[in-house]
This record gives sequence, C-alpha cells and structure tokens, in this order.
Amino acid sequence: MSAHSVRIAPSLLSVDLARLTDQLAMIEAGGADWLHIDVMDGRFVPNLTWGAKIIETCRRATTLPLDVHLMVVEPENYLESFAKAGASVLTIHAEAAPHLHRQLDYIKSLGCQAGVALNPATSLDAIREVVTDLDLLLVMTVNPGFGGQAFIPASIDKLRRARTLLDAAGSRALLEVDGGIARDTIADCWRAGADTFVAGNAVFGAADPAAEVTALRSRCAETA
Ligand code: DX5
Ligand code: ZN
Repeated sequence: MSAHSVRIAPSLLSVDLARLTDQLAMIEAGGADWLHIDVMDGRFVPNLTWGAKIIETCRRATTLPLDVHLMVVEPENYLESFAKAGASVLTIHAEAAPHLHRQLDYIKSLGCQAGVALNPATSLDAIREVVTDLDLLLVMTVNPGFGGQAFIPASIDKLRRARTLLDAAGSRALLEVDGGIARDTIADCWRAGADTFVAGNAVFGAADPAAEVTALRSRCAETA
C-alpha cells in the first residue's frame, strides 16, 4: 500500500442501521476505501456498541475491507472471533494492551493487518519500540467513545511527529486519524502526514454520503 494515497473510511457508528445495506451501497458508490467499525465495551470507553455478529453482517453486506477499531479492555479476547467474522484490519489501543508486540504478531497470524491506536493523551513513545511491527498507526483526534465530537487541534502536531517517527523507522504503516474528521479538518491532517481518514458524522450526516466521500478526498488532493 502506498503511504501517499488517500483512504477514506466511513464509520459504521453513524450509519442508520435500519438502512444499512443502502448506506453501505452509497459509500461504495462514492469511492470509500474501507468501512470503519467501532467496537466499544463500556469499560475502556463509556459507551457500548457491537461485536463479531455485526462484523459478519457487514462482511456480507459490502466488499469494502473492514477496519475494526477495538475500544475495549483485554482486546486479545476478541481478536480470533473478529478475524473469523471477516475483519481486514484489527486495531487495538496501546492503553489497553501491555503486550503490544505479542498482540501485533497474533493479529498478523490471524491473517489481518495489525494496528495500534493512541488516545489524545498518550505519547507516541507507547509505540516506539514496535514501530516496525505496525501495519497501521491510529492517532485519535478526539477522546474515543462517541461520534460527532470536535477535532482536537493539538492532534496536528502529533501527526507530524508520528509521520516523522514512521518515516525515520522506514515503516510503511498507514497513518490513520479518527474523530472530528470533516471538510474543515481533513486537509490539515493530510498535510501533517495522515493518509487514512475515518469519518462518521461528516459522511452519514450529509445529505449525500457518496458525494461527501468524494468531497473529503478532494480536500486532500487540493493540498497535495
Ligand atoms: C470515536 C470513534 C470514531 C467515530 C468517529 O470514538 O472511534 O470512529 O465513529 O466519529 P466522527 O467522525 O463523527 O467524529
Ligand atoms: Zn474509530
């Protein structure tokens, strides 16, 4: 995967589940690259969502790669079942996984791409020692748990430092951002070095989700 192409990953969290198939078809028509699926356990974050069953449902409903973001404690308990359900990328939080090296290896052994997410307050030092093991680094640009929150501006500097860290290590890991990504924030993230963009409210809250995917992508192209 090229680190220079833009990936747009609409988030299932903002989908109208009663219209799941239609909404997934809309984002595919708009050229979305991935579907982002947020798993929350009510412990790591103060909210609950879903598990393997919905990953399986999405696997049948779309051909897009499934980008699964685990906001859970003890993520190792879910990795195998999520991989079997059809996850393409499994991203665990550094704050919830003290044995990151082991878990990243395990995720890859399940045939998935392995990602690590960092909360806004977590230093990039948390992944420094495993940087060459990463397929993806997710820099959270809000505190995880809910869609529709405001982008944290200090994230831009963190992204620049993350880009430098990945490049210095010769890593080809994708640099993903998640939280408050919309037309007014995506270009700054792209310029700072992000290449993969999760967007929930911006896409599914738009009158035309397909057009919004295109609009977000073109914001990056304009500043390339
Ligand atoms: C938040 C989730 C996000 C969420 C983003 O904790 O990880 O993926 O869906 O939603 P927006 O794009 O609305 O901020
Ligand atoms: Zn997410």
